[in-house]
Amino acid sequence: MTAGGAPRGDPERGKAIVVGAPGLAPEQACISCHGIDGQGDPAAAFPRLAAQSQDYLLRALEDYADGRRVHDIMTPVAKALSSGQRQDVTAFYASRRDTAWIRPPLEKPELLQYGAALAAIGSATLGIQGCINCHGPAGKGLPPTAPYLSGQPASYIAARLVAWRGANKADDATPANIMARLAGRMGEREIAAVSEYYAQIAPDPIPASTISAAGQPLNQEPTP
Ligand code: HEC
Ligand code: HEC
Repeated sequence: MTAGGAPRGDPERGKAIVVGAPGLAPEQACISCHGIDGQGDPAAAFPRLAAQSQDYLLRALEDYADGRRVHDIMTPVAKALSSGQRQDVTAFYASRRDTAWIRPPLEKPELLQYGAALAAIGSATLGIQGCINCHGPAGKGLPPTAPYLSGQPASYIAARLVAWRGANKADDATPANIMARLAGRMGEREIAAVSEYYAQIAPDPIPASTISAAGQPLNQEPTP
């Protein structure tokens, strides 16, 4: 479903594309990196796609396909799909609302509190506004434009912020290139802190498996 619009594409056809499509080499099948249900892979900085808004996912694929967003792996994958297939596959991943999530081990506990502060209020000194303004409470996203950050691998969040700081500014579809400008004002410490912080928050909706495994809701701010 798109926010306020008609659903585009067919999730059933999308599911077939996830496991392979003509024109894609076997290792280019989405399943090998994002998983059948869009869980992603923190170890390799592969983003979680499950229950992300279709508008956002589809625009990401369109941006790779037409060169606005550039990535060694994703550019050829998106180009190999037709526009209809991009709709189908994003309809499928957007519909995955109960994909398992495992809270990663805390790598830099000393940065968690700083990450929480940056997320909530930003930093007046650095000229960074709070992420919550656009990414919503607990990083759950504000569809259709702002993606969720909660439950994304820290490695992926950091990689995108670093890319925006460097040459890859054109892929920023925000008005006035807000993400590239924010990232440009962040140092290593800020990037590590917000990445670690959002990686610790369960995605919304909280997968049932996560609740039963932990016995408690996890989509709250982690306690440092
Ligand atoms: C070999 C690993 C690999 C394969 C196969 C792969 N991806 Fe990706 N995907 C990635 C990586 C790495 C990124 C992050 C790229 C970046 O930083 O821009 C990504 C990013 C994305 C994004 C953007 C997510 C976001 O939050 O902005 C979408 C959407 C996506 N992939 C969909 C797909 C689909 C659909 C397929 C199959 C047709 C697929 N990917 C196949 C590794 C892969
Ligand atoms: C003014 C609104 C705004 C603010 C403030 C903002 N963002 Fe964003 N952010 C966006 C939008 C919109 C996108 C989608 C960009 C795109 O599609 O190119 C985005 C994308 C991202 C992404 C890429 C997610 C993905 O799945 O690829 C990351 C990471 C991110 N923002 C982190 C942050 C962090 C960390 C902060 C706080 C320091 C922040 N953002 C503050 C609007 C904002």
